[in-house]
Amino acid sequence: MADTPASPLAGCTILLIVGGGIAAYKALDLVRRLRERGAAVRPVMTEGAKQFVTPLSLASLAGAPVHDALFSLTDESTMGHIELSRAAELVVVAPATANLLAKLANGLADDLASTLLLATDKRTLVVPAMNLRMWLHPATRRNVERLRADGVLFCGPVEGAMACGEFGPGRMSEPLAVVAAIEAALAADTRLALPNLAPGRGALAGRRVVVTSGPTHEPIDPVRFIANRSSGKQGHAIASAAAAAGAEVVLVSGPVALPDPAGVRVERVETALEMLAAVKAALPADVFVAAAAVADWHVTAAAAHKLKKGGEPASLALAANPDILATVAGRERDRPPVVVGFAAETERLMDHAREKLGRKGCDLLVLNDVGPASGTFGGETNEVTILARDGGATAWPRLSKAEVAKRLVRLFAERLDET
Ligand code: C5P
Repeated sequence: MADTPASPLAGCTILLIVGGGIAAYKALDLVRRLRERGAAVRPVMTEGAKQFVTPLSLASLAGAPVHDALFSLTDESTMGHIELSRAAELVVVAPATANLLAKLANGLADDLASTLLLATDKRTLVVPAMNLRMWLHPATRRNVERLRADGVLFCGPVEGAMACGEFGPGRMSEPLAVVAAIEAALAADTRLALPNLAPGRGALAGRRVVVTSGPTHEPIDPVRFIANRSSGKQGHAIASAAAAAGAEVVLVSGPVALPDPAGVRVERVETALEMLAAVKAALPADVFVAAAAVADWHVTAAAAHKLKKGGEPASLALAANPDILATVAGRERDRPPVVVGFAAETERLMDHAREKLGRKGCDLLVLNDVGPASGTFGGETNEVTILARDGGATAWPRLSKAEVAKRLVRLFAERLDET
């Protein structure tokens, strides 16, 4: 009985985790709506959920057994929890209680639901439902911020009258709104997974992204320059991932030994001043990513001819370069809605990064350890922590630079959708 035959849900499997809140009754209707659109639903209940709706109701509507125990001999002999967490296109938590959000934000796995959330390799969409004071509590705010930075998708909550008699944000989104969010998540995921998209499709379709990448070279004379160890690999990977997600991308690159990413307009520059001019010319944009390692100074009067050695060692007069990131973040008329900086640090990482986030005025800051032992400069992998202006900080494990780029692009798309 597919009333929307074109739904991306057709043929998909959704792992539905039902949390313990009064809104659990809405999960029953959600299951019905998902199955109407051709999706298979694998239901999981927390102990709390079983206080509000019965496993029998959920299993009957889902047409599949309810899983609820971490150490179930029958379940583990037929389908182990790792397999259960992966044999689905999307994991949906509805209703997501404050407790479930807190566990997921902190990586706790003390029951089947939280273990599945940790074990999955698929995207997770949470549909929060709780009393408004719990939703507004600083602890929940922190958890939500962290989950967003982890790439967890949110649907709601909405404002309205609550079962407890209060009125405000915290009410679970209605099942049809959840279905729409699930469809959008499935569609976005498929598009991000495709390497070479036709222009105009994808999570960043219709968006313009400007990325700086690589080092800058500041000439001393016609043959010598001041430079740094940046390879441009992370910045180029971001440009590539943004293009794969459908964005129109301008990559402003310092001197690097990398091929141009497919589907990206590349502006080659050498100095910080040239980079600033190219960035300004590329604006306006929806997202600005300052991944370049821009030299802080330039030589005030670079020599027109090669300096000769001999005599006293030469001393160089230096002048500060403009801060490209701060300049873009501070633009009044056409500040991009999402401005992203990088902080390459070798010590007191978090202190320096927090200070930089505030001073530069960006929305997100990608912190990476570039100490000699990290292997980040020139390497294929990166271990980053994402700091948000609104307080959250999330450490990602060591990933390939391509995977970091893909995750960042997802974050940008979500931020843009929110603004
Ligand atoms: O101050 P620091 O160089 O560590 O800041 C790093 C961040 O600022 C990076 O995002 C880098 O691209 C950006 N930046 C810039 N222009 C400069 C210096 C840094 O855009 N002159």
